[in-house]
Amino acid sequence: MFIANNIRKEFQEDFWKSPFVALDDLSFKIEEGKITGFLGANGAGKTTFLKILLNFIMPTKGEVSYIGNITNRDFFKQLGYMPERPYYYEHLTGREFLVYVGKLQDLSEEQIDKAIEKWTKELKVFFALDRSLKSYSKGMLQRVGFAGALLHNPSLVILDEPLSGLDPIGRKEFKDILLKINREYGCTVFFSSHIVSDVEEVSENVVVIDKGKLVYQGKIDELLENSSTKLMRIEVEKLPEDFLSAHKDVIIKTSFAINQYLYCHKKDQQSLMMTLLSNNIDILSLGHESYSLEEVVYKLNE
Ligand SMILES: Nc1ncnc2c1ncn2[C@@H]1O[C@H](COP(=O)(O)OP(=O)(O)OP(=O)(O)O)[C@@H](O)[C@H]1O
Ligand SMILES: [Mg+2]
Repeated sequence: MFIANNIRKEFQEDFWKSPFVALDDLSFKIEEGKITGFLGANGAGKTTFLKILLNFIMPTKGEVSYIGNITNRDFFKQLGYMPERPYYYEHLTGREFLVYVGKLQDLSEEQIDKAIEKWTKELKVFFALDRSLKSYSKGMLQRVGFAGALLHNPSLVILDEPLSGLDPIGRKEFKDILLKINREYGCTVFFSSHIVSDVEEVSENVVVIDKGKLVYQGKIDELLENSSTKLMRIEVEKLPEDFLSAHKDVIIKTSFAINQYLYCHKKDQQSLMMTLLSNNIDILSLGHESYSLEEVVYKLNE
């Protein structure tokens, strides 16, 4: 759908200071028809990249190219976008705002009415359509903003932190709609988040950035299956703290249920087991354990 080619973005706040590099040689590809999560900690550069993608700001170097049969103009026609911090015309009602958005998309009045009813019902904000936006809660504004992004049946939807500020039910509803537009209408979705589990639930692909640099792009499953992310789990009876601290270079983490679980890399499994046995510690079970996506992502750059 689009390719980011060696994008660099510098912000020069002060003539005397060296520029701040927000994005550094960032290259990745977004596949058509897929949901791709865009992950990175606060300040990683997600919003900066999305602004470049949407032509709001220019990169210092590099470019975005569109693939398939689309030109730059088509790209924007097919696009539904919800910003991280939307500013709405508060004196408008929800309906007036959506009619305005629909007109910007060149939809007919009939198409606008139908689409407003459909999406505001889906997004559970239909009941408030005739109230002014200044009376809307944060979550309601997000719902109306999402409806606005979907009115014209876009084939690409880009959302910057669509789930932040929503309660757990709202998050579930938004995720269900992301899956629905992807599965039923073949819509390509690219959305940013710093909450790994939300991305894991709905996305097939993921792009992970850290301090403006790409750290991973590809399938979530492959990231988790990669052997370097696999751990061995050894079950033993409760061990004294001094044993654990004496072997903290191989014991990556521990957990405790009825018994104690020690986690280590495969390469360290044998030596750790030998140490346990030579200390007369019984090994009760041995198994595999994958890092969660959360752990993988935040470890990628170590
Ligand atoms: N206009 C600007 N001028 C100077 N620095 C900026 C500007 N916009 C962004 N930055 C810096 O670029 C970095 C990336 O910011 P960005 O907003 O892209 O992060 P983000 O990944 O979207 O974070 P969050 O998860 O908090 O939304 C930050 O260090 C930020 O301070
Ligand atoms: Mg952001």
